[in-house]
Order: sequence, then C-alpha cells, then structure tokens
Amino acid sequence: MKVLFVAAEVAPFSKTGGLGDVSRALPAALARLGHEVLVVTPRYAQVDPHGLTALGEEVSLRFPFGTVRAPLLESRPSPRHRVVFLENDALYSRTGIYGDADGDYRDNARRFGFLALGALAAAEALKFDADVVHLNDWQTGLAAPALKMAYAERALGHAKCIFTIHNLAYQGLFPASTMAELGLPESLFHPEGLEFYGSVNFLKAGLVYADALTTVSRRYAEEIQTAELGCDLDGLLRARRGVLTGILNGADYQEWDPANDRLIAARYSPDALGGKADCKSALRRHFGLNRPGDRPLFGLVSRLNEQKGIDLLLAALPQMLAQDDLDVVLLGNGERRYEDGLHELARRFPGQVGVQVGFDIRLSHVVEAGSDFFLMPSRYEPCGLNQLYSLRYGTPPIVRATGGLDDTVIDAALPGGTGFKFNDFDVPGLLWAMGEARALYRRPERMLALRVRGMRQNFSWDVSADRYAQLYRHGRTAA
Ligand code: ADP
Ligand code: GLC
Repeated sequence: MKVLFVAAEVAPFSKTGGLGDVSRALPAALARLGHEVLVVTPRYAQVDPHGLTALGEEVSLRFPFGTVRAPLLESRPSPRHRVVFLENDALYSRTGIYGDADGDYRDNARRFGFLALGALAAAEALKFDADVVHLNDWQTGLAAPALKMAYAERALGHAKCIFTIHNLAYQGLFPASTMAELGLPESLFHPEGLEFYGSVNFLKAGLVYADALTTVSRRYAEEIQTAELGCDLDGLLRARRGVLTGILNGADYQEWDPANDRLIAARYSPDALGGKADCKSALRRHFGLNRPGDRPLFGLVSRLNEQKGIDLLLAALPQMLAQDDLDVVLLGNGERRYEDGLHELARRFPGQVGVQVGFDIRLSHVVEAGSDFFLMPSRYEPCGLNQLYSLRYGTPPIVRATGGLDDTVIDAALPGGTGFKFNDFDVPGLLWAMGEARALYRRPERMLALRVRGMRQNFSWDVSADRYAQLYRHGRTAA
C-alpha cells in the first residue's frame, strides 16, 4: 500500500519527544513490510539541508494572508521510505519547533495549518497516489477535513484517513478568527466540527473527520474515553469508539540496544552484562557522583512538565535522598519551575544528585545504560518510550500504572515481573515503589533476574507496524 504519513517531528531530523521517534521507526517498519511510505514534515532550522536532495517541485498554497510556497527536499532512508521536507524559512526557520523561551510561537496556526494542507499538496505534486493518509497529533488535524472536502473529487480523496493521538492534552487551540485567517470554510465551525467552546481545535478536526482513530496503547484508548483523562473530548471519543483502536508503540532497537550502542561507555547484553558496570561508572563520573560505596543509581530522562509527574518526584526525592543510600541523575528540559526544582535538589544533595537541564540525545543513552532504575512517575502517559528503552538496557523502570506504562511493565512482585508499578499518583506511592527497588538492589540474584527478564522483552516495531497495516487494509485490527 502507499501511505502518506504526516508529522511535525521526525527523528533524527527533529525531535522534542516520542513523536519524533515514532515518525522515524514506524515508516521504516512499514517499508520493511513492503509498503511504500512518504513522510512529510517541515524543514526546521536544525535540519541540515546539505544531506537532502532538492526535488525540483514545490507546494504553493494561497491563503487570505498571502501565498505560501515551499520547495520540497528529500531524504531517502530506504528505497520504499522517503522523508520529504516542506521548506519555508519564514514559517519554520526558528530556534524551536513549537516555541521558544517566550512560549508557543504566535503563528502556530499558520505554521501547522500549512504543514497539514501542504503535505496533501506535496503528495499530489509528487504524484503519490496514497491509499492511506496517516496523520499524527494536532499539527496535522486540518488535513482530515481537507481530504473529505477539497480533495473529494481528486485521487487523494479516495485515500483512507487514519488519525493517531499521541497526546490528547495538546489540541492546537486557536481563536475563532483563525477560520477566516486560514480561509477555512465557516460552515465547519460548529460543535460537531472544528469548534471547541468558541475556539478552533485542530486536534478535533482530525478526531471528527478521520475514518479511523488510533492511540498509542490500549489502556490510553480506554482512558481518553473518561472524564478524567478525556481533556473535554471524551464525549466525542466515546461516540467514535467503534473506530478507535489502541496500538502500542514499538522501540527502535537499531537505535536503542546496549549490544550495539556507540553512545555508551561499553556494550552489554543479557548474556554478558559486565559492560553495564562500566556504563554506571561513566555516568557517575559525568555527574561527579563520587561518594564511595555501592548504591543504586536512579535515572530520569524527561520533558519537564505536569504530565511527567515532576512535581511528585520533587516532593518525594528529598525524603528518599535523606536516607543516604541511593544516588539520582536527572536529565530534562521544559517548564522553568521544574528546571529550578531540579537545580535546587542538586544544590541540596551535592555528590548524590546529578542534574543536567537541556535536550541531549547522547546523554539520554548514557543515563539509560548507566542507571540501575529508571523513573517514570507520570500523571498520565499515552505510551511512553523510555520505559521500553530502559527495559532493554537492563534498567528496571519505576512507573505509575497509567496508559502505556501500565500496558508494558509488570510489577516485580508478580511472576515475570520487569519493573515497579504504583497506582495512586501520590508521594507515598512513589516512595513505596522506589523503596521496593532499593531493597531489591540488595538482593543481587533477584536483581539480576529482574534486569535480564526486562532485557529479553520484545517491543520491536514489527508487531505494531503489522497492526497498522491491518488497519490500513481493513479499517480495523485483529484483537
Ligand atoms: P514524550 O513523547 O511524552 O516526551 P516518550 O517516553 O514517548 O515521552 O518519549 C520521549 C523521548 O524523548 C525519548 O526518546 C527520550 O529519550 C527523549 N527525551 C526526552 N527528554 C529528553 C532530553 N532532555 N534529552 C534527550 N532526550 C530526551
Ligand atoms: C507522546 C506521549 C508519549 C508517547 C509519544 C509517542 O509524546 O506523551 O507517551 O510515547 O507521544 O507516541
């Protein structure tokens, strides 16, 4: 099948979180299954044009505010997998992807409205007759109604439209005037269309007009139909539950496998774990954690925001650290208050807490490999990739039982356990799970068995890509 895949982030070119990883690995896995995949994404300032081929085609779309042109550039990871970039410096050549220190860019409706509509135009310009248009998150939502309306009489109008929710909390909300600003038909501005309490909601455009909806774990597919995690769209999602499926993300083991990872101090595998100790030493050195003695090292790599439970972590860690028998390393960036909280913790517990604020892909591998346990106390988590990576790196994850974390981690107290899971989003819950982990660290045989069980789990993309392929073909997947 021919799949047009549209996303605002595609690793290794652009990434702020898991969406970038998925938009790289899923198309690659689909291509391995024999499908032809055209990925369309913006060329941000950080994407080096030198490695890209100019296709000699451009997209040109007329809006009330003016005409936007974007020449098309291409990278070809494999013969059936193309990544095409929309190049428009006025829209995309900025320091950030969605915003900067001052917040979200004010013209994001134009920036991502153009991505959604420009991706369809790019496929047409390249004569790519897609059987399926696969959209991801709010930045691509406007393509769903456009396919049903503007493209109804054209080849692309016959494509099935799949919309994947990676995070329901980010909806792309803009003032009502955006309809006129982008020249969208006012007839779509009603509660069964794009309107959401008086605003325009780009995510809702995808949820209403796509033929099938997916999200990135089974549990999250249930959770978003509840008032608690439905972000005021639960009614709509309940109404569309017949076409909503949870398909778990995979882990890209080409990139995330300690047996081949060149970014870490030493390679290791379930049969030869020795290198993991070198990785721990290297990580301790990096952060100047030099207190003598053998203590468990707890690591975190995360966007720093409410979703990730950073508030809970900051509330729980001082108690844990005061007992002085564990160390912690924290890598993340995001909201200022949490960045400040991390720095404060490092000041209070010198030599015991290492903090780096920033986005550092190399260091994220170093933390996965060098930690004994990985912290993910999320308030909610659609899928989560870091727990999958940490399983593979022999770093049992400590997770809250929510969304994809619940679906992928088995508590150590149960047969086949792979990590530590707490239910209630509160300080005692997290302290309990960290306490269990710390105690298990003192029982080397059980600890080793836990590590190895996690390393042998297989969350490769092949299975999930096959489920997407079934959905593309039949409009549903086998249970
Ligand atoms: P989310 O997409 O909600 O941020 P995921 O667990 O799905 O959560 O994916 C996060 C991805 O982003 C992982 O690949 C993780 O390693 C990466 N990441 C998050 N924060 C950082 C950071 N500060 N530096 C480097 N990589 C990071
Ligand atoms: C979102 C979610 C995360 C998920 C990722 C990729 O960023 O927060 O849980 O793994 O998308 O689907």
